[in-house]
Amino acid sequence: MLSHPIDSTQEPTYNYTDWKYPTCGMRFIDYHAAETILAALEDNLDEVEVSLDLGLSMSRISTHQKDWTVEDLEKIAADKDSIYFTRENQILKAALSGRRFYKLMPTGLHSPPALLIDGVLMHRMKSIDPMSDARSKANLCAQQGSKMLEICTGLGYSTIACLDKNVSDIVTIERDENVLELASINPWSKRLFEDDRVKIVNADAVEEIVSFEEVSFDAVLHDPPRFSMSSDLYTAEFYASIFRVLKPGGVLFHYVGTPGSKYRGKDLQKGVMKRLRSVGFEKVERKPKALGVLARKPPV
Ligand SMILES: C[S@@+](CC[C@H](N)C(=O)[O-])C[C@H]1O[C@@H](n2cnc3c(N)ncnc32)[C@H](O)[C@@H]1O
Repeated sequence: MLSHPIDSTQEPTYNYTDWKYPTCGMRFIDYHAAETILAALEDNLDEVEVSLDLGLSMSRISTHQKDWTVEDLEKIAADKDSIYFTRENQILKAALSGRRFYKLMPTGLHSPPALLIDGVLMHRMKSIDPMSDARSKANLCAQQGSKMLEICTGLGYSTIACLDKNVSDIVTIERDENVLELASINPWSKRLFEDDRVKIVNADAVEEIVSFEEVSFDAVLHDPPRFSMSSDLYTAEFYASIFRVLKPGGVLFHYVGTPGSKYRGKDLQKGVMKRLRSVGFEKVERKPKALGVLARKPPV
């Protein structure tokens, strides 16, 4: 259920469950947009050029809108870590309380929002925006005509980056329906729900992957949360399942990140590489820019 009215903690009011992109009529306002409209009002302008879809496009709108008040805009402008949207005469925060707390967070004027789960960031936003990061992952494993498996859909940015590499189709697994629900209102996730080449599977990847046929994918993009949140996605057993579903010569890109490396001298990638080799992967190498590891299933 989405989401919280702007200045209360009352029960969420918006429920969308069939995962079709529903944002028509919704207008998104983050602090950039709020500041722009407030500045235009301050200058007594009747119109203003602003983005109401989180930076995907610009629109010229009247500054005299009934959907929000100056007070609403001031609250939004002061909340730099949240995104709001208008719906049915309400202003709602793009956030959701379920098993955990899920929220969209602005990352820049023309870049897609990041996902926070219980305050933990699910996307990179330091020195790279989430979509460019997704592209750097897809560039390492997705190829024209590939049949792909993605583990950890999130907001679908890496799925979309794979579509842009002209893959033939992509199965993407996301365990948490709350994440998919939040993605379903995100203008930057639209193609995740609209492109016929995408099949979203709402399941735990560790359980689901065993039901897939062996040697059925050309490439796997594995984009898990950090190790401390999802250690089951970093085990040799799970890597063996990925190996099983890959075709001979197929590639795996595994995002690992660099948790612990800065302060405790830990090298998580080293352990990941060792476990990948132990289940049969070859040509296992670090990809520092994408903060991950690339590996190949030997060709027959
Ligand atoms: C880093 S985010 C993925 C970002 C995503 N690739 C994107 O481009 O937006 C990790 C996601 O993995 C999901 N997840 C965690 N454990 C999972 C599991 N066992 N099976 C499937 N999804 C899982 C989380 O709910 C979260 O949405």
